Amino acid sequence: TITGFVFDLDGVITDTAKFHYQAWKEIAQEKLDITITPAVNELLKGRSRMDSLEEIIKFGHQEGQHTLAEKEAIATEKNDRYKQLIQTMTPADILPGMGEFLQELADHHYPMSVASASFNAPFIIKRLKLEDLLGKIVDPASVKHGKPAPDIFEAAADQIDSPYATTVGFEDATAGISGINDAGMFSVGIGDPTILDEADLVFASTADVSLSAIEQAFASKNA
Ligand code: G6P
Ligand code: MG
Repeated sequence: TITGFVFDLDGVITDTAKFHYQAWKEIAQEKLDITITPAVNELLKGRSRMDSLEEIIKFGHQEGQHTLAEKEAIATEKNDRYKQLIQTMTPADILPGMGEFLQELADHHYPMSVASASFNAPFIIKRLKLEDLLGKIVDPASVKHGKPAPDIFEAAADQIDSPYATTVGFEDATAGISGINDAGMFSVGIGDPTILDEADLVFASTADVSLSAIEQAFASKNA
């Protein structure tokens, strides 16, 4: 049986994915003259701030053209803009059904923790008033390899003493699904099933998430 749940934050608990996209789109245009497309944005989801910038630079064929100091300045500006966008978040910004789902898990005494690459995760969880349910958050600085590596999911499961094989991981990004799978966990994707085709189970929207569907799919995978 399932022993714990680990959650990505951006795009799973709340729709900050759109704010990351907006901030990168503006900064990439202004500072690098690179126009980001939704397809590029898929590659940025779940990736650390600097890895995201490297992806954008690669997409714009500007590899090797910027110093580390320049890249750090661009990443800082992106984060300043992103922080402005998340300042006014409230519990109303929890994605449909997720507040209820987290409460249902708590009622069933499932331990939960957060595996987000974002250094802004503790602030966002506070704004959403989810500290009681999702107070266990991995510090992304404490893990060696970012997503798609499994490290952050393993650290999140370790925090709640949940063996990987019986842990369920939630993700909206292909990089995250890879990490969950490589950790040997059961992967639940939120989004387009044709993009998240490596996931064990996909819900098109958070509103469709169902504990019984997850328990059933987990049981048949491990039968
Ligand atoms: C999440 C998002 C990414 C973001 C990363 C780092 O994984 O999906 O788009 O780049 O966090 O976030 P941060 O807030 O630290 O820049
Ligand atoms: Mg995400």
